Amino acid sequence: METIERIGALRERVAAWRHDGLRVGFVPTMGNLHAGHIGLVTEAHRHSDRVIISIFVNPLQFGPTEDFAQYPRTLEQDREMLERTGADLLFNPSVPEMYPDGHQGTTLVDVHTMSKILCGHFRPGHFEGVATVVTKLFNLVQPDVAVFGEKDYQQLTIIRQLTSDLCIPVEIVGVPTMRDPDGLALSSRNRYLTPAERKLAPHLYETLLAARSGVENGDRHYESIEKAGMQALERAGFKPDYFAIRRADNLQPPAERTRELVILTAARLGKARLIDNVRATRPD
Ligand code: PAJ
Repeated sequence: METIERIGALRERVAAWRHDGLRVGFVPTMGNLHAGHIGLVTEAHRHSDRVIISIFVNPLQFGPTEDFAQYPRTLEQDREMLERTGADLLFNPSVPEMYPDGHQGTTLVDVHTMSKILCGHFRPGHFEGVATVVTKLFNLVQPDVAVFGEKDYQQLTIIRQLTSDLCIPVEIVGVPTMRDPDGLALSSRNRYLTPAERKLAPHLYETLLAARSGVENGDRHYESIEKAGMQALERAGFKPDYFAIRRADNLQPPAERTRELVILTAARLGKARLIDNVRATRPD
């Protein structure tokens, strides 16, 4: 697998593939790869002839008190994992390569309604940082298809919206969340958990599943279900930011007739901020 750090070389390689009529798939990541990321690469192969994965810890999406400096950077281990998976190209730019004039005053992509709610409310500027870097990466790679995890459901919804709003010719594919056997969603941030916290962590998913059974058994008292979710997490030792039942398509509060729902939560456990979600279909 080839590793490219410079934009010019990336553009040349992609142009050569395009010249040969090959379909290009793209998986953006921040590295510290795990089986969830690898699942995205495998899915990208199903939709394309060549797969590019990027590893870039994007300073623009971290708040001033967040973990940009501590975020795990494990390039050698990531590269070995990618060799085994069969990605065709790793794009691993430096921060100045991506933000030559610095990231502070850069043009921002703001998916207005969706980037301020849920996680956006608790992490101001985060989704503008994600939307901006993903737009830049799309312009650099110009993929036919790009693959994202449903684990970051709000991120996936924002990316679908921005590609549609900005007329970016890329197909967005979502991949179901990959979990450890006890239900905890795989995440690079799980490594911040102590062994005792790691034992507690699957409660997040269990609480979501309990809320889903309520919804799927016809309980329409969404506010009570949300409140019960918050309380269950607090009792288990989490500090939840939110526990919300939303429309699956646009993350707005459900209307009377909405059937396709998503239940989303974010909660702190020790040093880690964990997020998770499950889809739910309301019965008629
Ligand atoms: P990162 O957290 O590295 O995640 C990269 C991709 O892997 C995202 O699409 C994410 O949803 C997916 N992913 C992570 N854990 C997963 C799991 N357990 N199951 C399935 N997919 C999973 O998300 C980002 O990086 C960044 O915000 C990025 C989009 C790269 C922009 O900087």
